Amino acid sequence: MNSKAALQSWLNRIITGDCIELMQHLPDGAFDMAFCDPPYNLQLPRPLLRPNRTVVDGMQGQAWDEFASLQAYDEFTVAWMTQVRRLLKDNGTIWVIGTYHNIYRVGKVLMDLGFWILNDVVWIKTNPMPNFRGTRFTNAQETLIWAVKDRRRKDYTFNYWQMKQINGGKQMRSDWYFPLCRGQERVMVDGGTKAHPTQKPERLVERVILASTNEGDLVLDPFCGVGTCPVVCRRLGRSFVGFEIDAVYAELARERLAKARQHQAPSEGLRASP
Ligand SMILES: C[S@@+](CC[C@H](N)C(=O)[O-])C[C@H]1O[C@@H](n2cnc3c(N)ncnc32)[C@H](O)[C@@H]1O
Repeated sequence: MNSKAALQSWLNRIITGDCIELMQHLPDGAFDMAFCDPPYNLQLPRPLLRPNRTVVDGMQGQAWDEFASLQAYDEFTVAWMTQVRRLLKDNGTIWVIGTYHNIYRVGKVLMDLGFWILNDVVWIKTNPMPNFRGTRFTNAQETLIWAVKDRRRKDYTFNYWQMKQINGGKQMRSDWYFPLCRGQERVMVDGGTKAHPTQKPERLVERVILASTNEGDLVLDPFCGVGTCPVVCRRLGRSFVGFEIDAVYAELARERLAKARQHQAPSEGLRASP
């Protein structure tokens, strides 16, 4: 199958497999935007215990988040980001989300590969997980780096006026306040267990998509988990290709996607930022 045929057959689908391998089958310059939510490389002890010795239900035991060394994580980052860069149009943009564990390393790779940073947006979690041991501050944020492929291209998509409108008539700032993913949108299994430890809130991804793409644009999500970005793309009339290495997550993402309706009103349109 040639690369254009691969793109056609994967359009608006979630494909199970290693994104680094799968992206090699796609053609240069096909995508308008990439939303990348890679492993964090949290390097957590196992099991992680609360002071009362109960086990914290979170990222422990997530094989996809474990790397042999920082160097191995950096090599992984270079490999996927090189492919994402090739697949973007010259005026296309990348968003990468991460925590203090990985975002500085990812940001270095991004700059080394030639991306030009436009913003670093801070997602301030209005309901963060507490720091159970009380040994340091509660981590209440994640960082999203937004960057254009070619710094000479000033014609990247930024829907300034729409952002301003959403923000009650004031310029949208780079500090975004949203709660962690919860309620009906949280994908559950086995009658009440969170299916994915790092499912992102739809409102966060909506803002990313509304700000930096137009209807009909093509979005790449190499690490789609349980499908937040594909679902938001479908609702907002954007096309997408999603990759996910874990077959269970990929299937849950497909089920979620099947329920998403195009042109459902984005929640962003309904309210201003706090
Ligand atoms: C931080 S999570 C993404 C969560 C997603 N944004 C959501 O809202 O559900 C990272 C995901 O990347 C997947 N992953 C890790 N390595 C991968 C690879 N090489 N190719 C594709 N997916 C991978 C993991 O299985 C995990 O689901």
